[in-house]
Amino acid sequence: MVRVHVGRPPENNPFIECTNSKTSAISPHFSYNFFIYEGIKMDYPNFTSEYKSLMAKYLTKDIFNELKELKTANGYTLFDAINSGIKNPDSGIGIYAGDEESYTLFAPLFDKIIEDYHGFSKSDMHKSNLNAEDLNAVNPDPEGKYIVSTRIRVGRNLHNLPLGPAISKEQRSYVEQSVSDILKSLDGDLAGSYYPLDGMSEEDRASLIADHFLFKAGDRFLEAAGLNRDWPSGRGIYHNSAKTFLVWINEEDELRIISMQKGGDIKSVFSRLTTAIMFLEKKIEFSYSQHLGYITSCPTNLGTAMRASVHIALPKLAADMESFKAIADKYYLQIRGIHGEHSQSEGGIYDVSNRRRLGVSEVECVQDMYDGVVALIAAEKKLENF
Ligand code: ADP
Ligand code: ARG
Repeated sequence: MVRVHVGRPPENNPFIECTNSKTSAISPHFSYNFFIYEGIKMDYPNFTSEYKSLMAKYLTKDIFNELKELKTANGYTLFDAINSGIKNPDSGIGIYAGDEESYTLFAPLFDKIIEDYHGFSKSDMHKSNLNAEDLNAVNPDPEGKYIVSTRIRVGRNLHNLPLGPAISKEQRSYVEQSVSDILKSLDGDLAGSYYPLDGMSEEDRASLIADHFLFKAGDRFLEAAGLNRDWPSGRGIYHNSAKTFLVWINEEDELRIISMQKGGDIKSVFSRLTTAIMFLEKKIEFSYSQHLGYITSCPTNLGTAMRASVHIALPKLAADMESFKAIADKYYLQIRGIHGEHSQSEGGIYDVSNRRRLGVSEVECVQDMYDGVVALIAAEKKLENF
């Protein structure tokens, strides 16, 4: 009987982590791979009770058997797609696409996850609206008592190239070169410079991260998805001198286009972002489908690929997390800590953002966030007067 270990290897485990040609036949993308015992490749994962992800919920034995032999034109397999969720049992989603084709080839699994996360079915169509004039968002905190800063980002990936989990070093470098060249042609308040990660001083990198401008290194979910391969080659950040407009290159998505500033003028932040998006859309063809909207490596970002957030101080409400969460749920909001995903709150300040991204327009995403923030501030004020 051959036993196959799935997930993190226990100390002194008898299983071999393979990097040899046998595993590269399963996956050409990783220098590490699944746990193989005596040359036998991983079988249906042993989803113990630790596994919480939507991938673990929907990957039935039947779906596994239906998909396990398939490979996209870029050589991306089911094993590549689920590796992050297998290696990180605490994943909430646990799956990444290697290319646009992953969403159709592995549809029996992706569709269920997309439907569960976004409430969006196979026959639904995405919609887009980038007209900032349609947003109803007068600054809800003109005195700057609650909202520390506002940030809105979208993810984008180049049409006809693999997504980050399956991209080659050369393709990644092509993205960096071509996109940074185009960004250099921006003018006015979007004009800035590109700073590659390769060669950036440790001091500069740490201060950009601490000030919330740059992505961190070493995320374990991205690592297991193959998104950190060849680090730091091909990665970098473009920003204007005020650091109110930024573009991350080759992180979780090939582009993360970001507009941010201090305070709660959400409409200005959105306007700056839409101006930049419209400029870039004229120069670059991004991966987009009528059904799924902008194609992203993680299914949570499909559609608008937009996360509109504020860093907001709500000390009284935060003392009653149940009420905080109830308001967040009512307005489709997500609560994060202030150092990005999987971080904790500090000093009673939270990152509050839209949760819905697919089947709703960009204007609706920001409106969700805005309406929720207005309700949260009203609840905080009520508690202050209690
Ligand atoms: P993403 O927004 O790209 O999904 P993260 O949640 O990891 O990824 O956030 C990326 C960075 O953006 C982190 O440093 C985070 O603190 C910062 N950030 C997010 N929202 C805001 C905001 N409203 N103001 C300032 N920084 C923010
Ligand atoms: N893969 C991680 C998980 O399943 C993150 C998912 C959503 N976040 C993201 N950055 N794509 O929990």
